[in-house]
Amino acid sequence: HPDIATSIANLRDRIDSWRAADETIALVPTMGALHSGHLQLVELAAERCDRVVVSIFVNPTQFGPEEDFSRYPRRPEADLEALARVGVPLVFAPSAEEMYPAGYATTVKVGGPSEGLESDFRPHFFEGVATVVSKLLISCFPDEAVFGEKDYQQLLVVRRLVSDLRLPTRIVAAPTAREADGLALSSRNAYLSAEERRKAPLIYSSLQEAAEALRAGAPVASTVNDVKERLSEAGFRVDYISLRHSETLQPLAELSNGPGRLLAAAWLGGTRLIDNIAV
Ligand code: PAJ
Repeated sequence: HPDIATSIANLRDRIDSWRAADETIALVPTMGALHSGHLQLVELAAERCDRVVVSIFVNPTQFGPEEDFSRYPRRPEADLEALARVGVPLVFAPSAEEMYPAGYATTVKVGGPSEGLESDFRPHFFEGVATVVSKLLISCFPDEAVFGEKDYQQLLVVRRLVSDLRLPTRIVAAPTAREADGLALSSRNAYLSAEERRKAPLIYSSLQEAAEALRAGAPVASTVNDVKERLSEAGFRVDYISLRHSETLQPLAELSNGPGRLLAAAWLGGTRLIDNIAV
């Protein structure tokens, strides 16, 4: 098993000893319930840096009061075994009290790319993410930190945060890992019933078809609407389907103003799924 640091002081001690030996360090932040998408991030980190630290922390501040914090899957033993197999030397697994001690009163709020899309449906989400990611980066000042394109808006928010605060960490993006039928891997896929699981790949296949249509010159508004209708007819409750500029996330009325990114969030029963695709 990897070593486990549960305090920031302990994490810093371990990092300091690697730094003293001139080793480079990559951080992969996660909320655990690791799947092969997470492990792909770890492998990318290991190719790029001498040492990889994986953080596992189900961050309470990024969940709304009605959201799934309490039922979010937690599998510490399986996570540690998976990380041992890929050779991760150190896991940072703090308690909520370690990250947010009594009297904690500081948050990080990013504007720009955090506005709209997810924020329209999860208003406190990115403040929670930006705060915890800031704390994680400041706790170990890694050379690099790896984030998945699966959470595309989150990736851009983290890039903005690191750039605005001049944090000395390079943000590296990893492509979305998918099941054979196209469904993006997610810890939340475990919530899907068998019937929902059969329907779930429709999100990605609809995005793929829309991306092709857009590239072939189809108008943006009607193409986006077609995706919404298809998903609604199949029983999804769509939060948003939106074509955005891939760097600013500003709405794109025409693909020629791109590069574009088509982003989607939809519910299947009680499970919220997100996905996105380059256009
Ligand atoms: P979590 O959902 O556990 O994801 C951790 C990292 O794995 C994120 O960078 C996410 O984009 C990436 N990831 C998840 N599924 C992926 C997939 N199918 N393909 C590629 N990458 C994938 O995202 C979070 O945790 C949290 O918000 C966190 C950043 C840890 C802050 O609490």
